Amino acid sequence: MEASLKAKSVLITGCSRGIGLEFVKQFVRLPSPPAHIFASCRSPDTAYELQQISKDNPSVTVLKIDVEDMSTIENAALQVEQILVGRGLNLLINNAGFLFREEKIEDVTEEKMLSTYKVNTVGPVFVTKRFLPLIRKAAQTYGKDEYSTSRAAIMNISSIWSSIDYNEMARHYSYRCSKIALNMVSKNLSIELAADKILVINLNPGWVRTDLGGPNGSISTEESVNGLMNVMATRTKEHNALFYDFKGALLPW
Ligand SMILES: NC(=O)c1ccc[n+]([C@@H]2O[C@H](COP(=O)([O-])OP(=O)(O)OC[C@H]3O[C@@H](n4cnc5c(N)ncnc54)[C@H](OP(=O)(O)O)[C@@H]3O)[C@@H](O)[C@H]2O)c1
Repeated sequence: MEASLKAKSVLITGCSRGIGLEFVKQFVRLPSPPAHIFASCRSPDTAYELQQISKDNPSVTVLKIDVEDMSTIENAALQVEQILVGRGLNLLINNAGFLFREEKIEDVTEEKMLSTYKVNTVGPVFVTKRFLPLIRKAAQTYGKDEYSTSRAAIMNISSIWSSIDYNEMARHYSYRCSKIALNMVSKNLSIELAADKILVINLNPGWVRTDLGGPNGSISTEESVNGLMNVMATRTKEHNALFYDFKGALLPW
């Protein structure tokens, strides 16, 4: 039987479509769903499917977060604080991401490099920084359990394309560089937050059929997120600071 996540509150970035939207769908369907699912996206007004899920499930609050826009991160945090009224946030999933498909070095531009870094690396850093007091509060409130996604955790959605050891096909300079920088963010956080026993894991969702992954991806969003949820539910102290795929396999940095 599959393990089940027991976080009471979760915040996910990039929920308008793809893997982020599927996270929301599967959180709602858990046997013990979180009381608060904060589903953020950069354009709530046009996130029709997400808005419908929120209408059908009062636990789902749609928030505006553009990870490039610090004021949206701040406003969303204020709303979350109001809703949680003194309780902490158990789980943050930094999922929003962006890919330019450069085939070779000639395709790379300064603008592509910098804008990808801003979304895939700077964004997760500042979302984490702003929500960390709430995650720390959860770590104190649910203080007895050690490292778990039910207590206090940060999951960064990276990519196998960030792995230097795994890279055999080159291409995608801006994306690979932004995601390997995200891996360093995960490692840094895991060391810094060890005092609070906050679990930090880097995750690869697989090659998923989304706008980013394209139609030839090897798995559906359902399969990817089902796997990721199971992996997240089973991670503990021994898994802290490491990089896993959606089946739970340990990946090389
Ligand atoms: N699909 C794959 O094969 C694959 C493989 C490895 C890793 N990943 C990672 O998985 C994560 C989700 O990717 P996906 O496949 O679901 O891609 P997707 O279908 O293209 O969705 C990307 C999501 O990120 C959001 N986003 C982009 N820029 C943003 C910003 N500045 N602020 C807030 N949200 C922003 C998009 O929002 P809008 O709708 O507003 O654009 C959308 O919700 C990404 O981190 C990606 O790198 C995916």
